[in-house]
Amino acid sequence: GEATAELVASRVLDVPDFPKPGIMFKDLMPLFADGEAFRATIDAIVSRHQGRFDVVAGIEARGFVIAAAVAYAAGVGVVPVRKAGKLPRKVLAATYALEYGEATLELHADAFTAGQRVLVVDDVLATGGTAAATLGLIERAGGTVTGFSVLMELEFLGARAKLAPREVHALLVVA
Ligand code: PRP
Ligand code: MG
Repeated sequence: GEATAELVASRVLDVPDFPKPGIMFKDLMPLFADGEAFRATIDAIVSRHQGRFDVVAGIEARGFVIAAAVAYAAGVGVVPVRKAGKLPRKVLAATYALEYGEATLELHADAFTAGQRVLVVDDVLATGGTAAATLGLIERAGGTVTGFSVLMELEFLGARAKLAPREVHALLVVA
């Protein structure tokens, strides 16, 4: 609700021109570092999606912090979606455009059982390129994405359209 939105808003630092000129970097490390705020945001994510996921997928690197905490609190497992070249076994790969360049994400081909319900978590939803690539990977691996949960969504970049009709929830929506 509103309290959680305010909590996120009060714990984000806007860093201009990082990692490239023209990009406003949203740094959520202050939220991660604040024990009370971190717990409140994790609890809000878990209660919002409770009963609708069997496993949590976290997107490297900042999504890992949230994914492990959400999975622990919900009593489910966590699957890492990794940057290229890090996973040791057979992988599925997806290359996508970022606001600042291009990147490749990978997922172990056997990461999910058929139809397993997956909640995808990350810190920021900006263009949605990262989340859409993750969605494609999980579905190719046989998982069913039942929702996306992020701390902050930059709504003006239009990510939701790329993820429809799946549920997208952001603790803080920046118009
Ligand atoms: C940032 C952020 C999201 C993604 C959002 O990650 O943590 O994962 O960008 O952008 P998008 O919606 O436009 O795809 P980044 O790739 O910078 O890497 P990091 O998490 O490893 O720091
Ligand atoms: Mg990231």
